[in-house]
Order: sequence, then C-alpha cells, then structure tokens
Amino acid sequence: MKIRPNKGLTFDDVLLLPKRSPVISRQDVDTSTRLVGDIRIKLPVVSANMDTVTEGTMAIAMARAGGIGIIHRFMTPEMQAEQVNFVKRTYGYIIEKPYAIAPEATVAQAEAAMRRWQVSGLVVVDPEGRLLGLLTRRDLGISPKNGREVRLAMTPRERLITAGPHVTPEQARHIMYEHRVEKLPVVDEADHLLGLITMRDLTKFERYPLATVDGKDRLRVGAAVGVTENELKRAEVLLEAGADLLVLDIAHGHADHCLRFVRQLKTAFPRALIVAGNVATAEGARDLAQAGADAIKVGIGPGSICTTRIVTGFGVPQLTAIMDSRKGLVKDGLDLPIIADGGIRNSGDMVKALASGADSVMIGSLFAGCDEAPGVPVIRDGRKVKVVRGMASLGAAMGRRQVERGEDESAEDPEDWSKVVPEGVEAVVPYRGQVSEILYQLVGGLRSALSYGGARNIPELQINAEFVEITPAGMSESRSHDVDRV
Ligand code: XMP
Repeated sequence: MKIRPNKGLTFDDVLLLPKRSPVISRQDVDTSTRLVGDIRIKLPVVSANMDTVTEGTMAIAMARAGGIGIIHRFMTPEMQAEQVNFVKRTYGYIIEKPYAIAPEATVAQAEAAMRRWQVSGLVVVDPEGRLLGLLTRRDLGISPKNGREVRLAMTPRERLITAGPHVTPEQARHIMYEHRVEKLPVVDEADHLLGLITMRDLTKFERYPLATVDGKDRLRVGAAVGVTENELKRAEVLLEAGADLLVLDIAHGHADHCLRFVRQLKTAFPRALIVAGNVATAEGARDLAQAGADAIKVGIGPGSICTTRIVTGFGVPQLTAIMDSRKGLVKDGLDLPIIADGGIRNSGDMVKALASGADSVMIGSLFAGCDEAPGVPVIRDGRKVKVVRGMASLGAAMGRRQVERGEDESAEDPEDWSKVVPEGVEAVVPYRGQVSEILYQLVGGLRSALSYGGARNIPELQINAEFVEITPAGMSESRSHDVDRV
C-alpha cells in the first residue's frame, strides 16, 4: 500500500494567476486546438457520447459552431451509422449522395419519399447513375397525381442547369442566381451525377464560418465504439458511413482488453483516428498511446452523473488527472492530444482543464438541457427541465437491453435488474435552449481567459499557466456573494 504525498486537485481547488498580457482585444485570440490526428477544431469543445446528449442533431449543431459531437453507441451499429450519415450529408455545399428516384416510380411514391427524407426535391437517374431529370415540389404542385410516372412530371435533363465537379461555392451561387434555380446537379463529363447543390445548403454553408469540416466540406463527426470483439464490425460500419474519428467508450481504459482492442482497431483500420480512454494517470495515458491511440480521453469519475468514485472508491480529481496524464505522455516523448472528459460546469472549469494540459474538453450534462440533445423538455415543479442519465446508470442499462432485444418487446428479459450495480445516476437539468448559446458563453469566457493568461492561444495558455491552490473560503469569495441574486 502506498499513499501519494501530493493532494489530488480539481477545478474548485485552484485559480490561475493573472499574467502580463500582450492581448489588447478578446477578438485577437485564437481558440482553435488539435482534436486528434490532423483534425483541428476552432472551439475546443466536444459533446459527450451519451444517449441524452449526442445524436445527429447535436453533432450537427456542435460541428456547425466549430466544435464536434460524438454519436453514442447505445443503438444498433446500423442506426448509429445512419446518424453519422445524417451529419455528413447535412452540410457542405455539395450533397454527395442526394436522394434519388427511378423514372418509372409514381409521383405518389416520390411525394412519400420526400416526406420521409424531409427534402424538397429528388434527382432522377438511370441505372448507371446518369442524370435524367430533377423532381421538385414545384413539379409536383402542378402535376396530375393518379398513377403518373416521375419521368412525366420531372424537369427533364435537357432543361436542367448543371455544374461540373470543381465548382466553387461562389461559382455555384452565381450560376443559381443567373438562371434563377434553387437546385444545381453536379455531373461529370459523361453526365454521371456526382452531387447536388441547393440554395438552402449553400446559404447554411456560408452562415457557419467556424464549422468543423472535412476535406469535402462536410461536417465532421465522431462515433463511439465499445471494446468487445464484435465492436470491430461496428467500427467498420461507422467508418464506412464517414465517421471522422472513433472514440472508445469504456469506463476503465487502462485495462488489458482495452489496450488489446486499440491495437486490433489500428491493425484492422490503420487510417482510422482513435481516441482511447478513459484514464486518469500517467501510466494509463502512456500505455494507451503506446498501444496506438491517436488521442487520450481523461476522466475517471468527475462527471456530473458519475458515481464511480462513490461505488468503487477509485478515481482522481480531474485537474490532477489531466496534469498527470500530460506528464505521462511528455515523459515518453508522446505528443498526443488530451480530451478532458467530465465535470465541466462553466467556462472557468474549461479554462482550467485546458491550462492544465488538455487540448479540448468533453461535456455532457451542460449540453443535455439543450434543444439539440435527444428527448423533450418537461415541466417539473414549474421549471422546464430535460433528463440526463449516466451511461452506467440503471436506466441506461435497461435502455441498452431493450435495444439489444430489438423490436420484440414481449421477449423475456433475462436480466435480473436487482443485481445491476450502477455507477451513474439519472437526473434532470434545466432546459437551456440552443447549444450555440452555451458555446458562445463558454468561448467568450475562454477568450477573456486567454487575455488574463497573457496568451494568444491555447498552447501559450498552457505554457504560461500558474495555478494557486485555494481554500473553500477562496472559492466562496470567487462566486457572487453577500448579495441577493435576482
Ligand atoms: P459531465 O460532467 O459533462 O460528464 O456530465 C460527462 C462524462 O461523464 C462520463 N459518464 C459517466 N461516468 N458513470 C460514470 O462514472 C456513468 O454512468 C457515466 N455516464 C457518463 C462520461 O465520460 C461523460 O463524457
């Protein structure tokens, strides 16, 4: 048995010392950071792979704003891949695989398809993928309905305005304006359909200058995988759907089977970017890095809905966990990004996490109350709230079982729920509106912090960072006090 001489510290135990600053305006600082591999994000914020936090809608909002979302894995691999695909096709000015319909289909079938996919037009292609026409709501509005075929209702190829594969957003906007069209199919020399540009997507594309996008200007998105053998298949399906990174979802990442799985993943998919965790020690971070991880996720038990430390007695206060993990990597010359996962309640916590060695932070509960998180708000005691649950809570375990049993609700449930030992809780959080508003506050705080830290960017913040340990009195002085909050 050993006891460490130094205390473990977390966010409320410290403050950062203000430094002489070259920064004149908060607008002059750079909040961008490395996420994993060659992926950079303009805001150092990642939404957590929890089933009450990140599915497609949240991931889209996060990436549009300049962060990124990680789709949780508590659904079938196919459902999860569909969420990834949903994100990949929402943005970018060229939709790569626009929804298509055959010329022989009926107008009624086309209408049903448009309703299902929530689109206002379908491309019509032949079996070789050559463009035959375009069917929009406008065509449908004037088309007689009963049994009529799409080929008779569509705008035929010869009347369509199209663009070549290398069209830029500016050129596309110009062509669409010149010809007064809202949809512009993209084709190659042989008239094979390569994609579709819509005015709506083009406008959205231009509205989000910070967006996190890939080489094809599509939003980036991550997806979580477990560490059992059959999760290799899930990884394959997710990568095929376009996931930009995979995040290992395991509570104790410093485990032999996790290290083995990182190696297996890297062998099976050498080009895939793997974030591995969670760990909270120098050895944990180093071992995952040596196993082939591309970034390390740090946090054992700091999360708002976590009870791991209470149930098991294990964990490390988050600030110390981040510092130790960073030290572990540096010591072995491993310069990998760290994602600090859990316990972030405000911009000050985020700044302390970054200053102590993290490159980005992962956030759960703070985002669970947002419109973009799964679930709907409810009124409790006169307050609008949303539900958040730990992924190791009893509710999440039961939800998981339901997904595994599929549609068959009547199937006998073999689980004895009284034997489950949860390491998380279910809770409610205040309804918080759009995630972009929370991100605005978080990043505004970070911009200000960089100026206090005498830093123009996050690496400089880390170099300059000097923490002072404070007492509980120091913390209560830090909050608003001796006034009645309105
Ligand atoms: P916050 O504080 O942002 O933390 O809500 C989110 C992170 O908490 C972790 N997490 C859990 N940890 N039991 C745990 O011990 C759980 O049931 C649980 N669910 C989520 C996870 O790392 C997440 O990103």
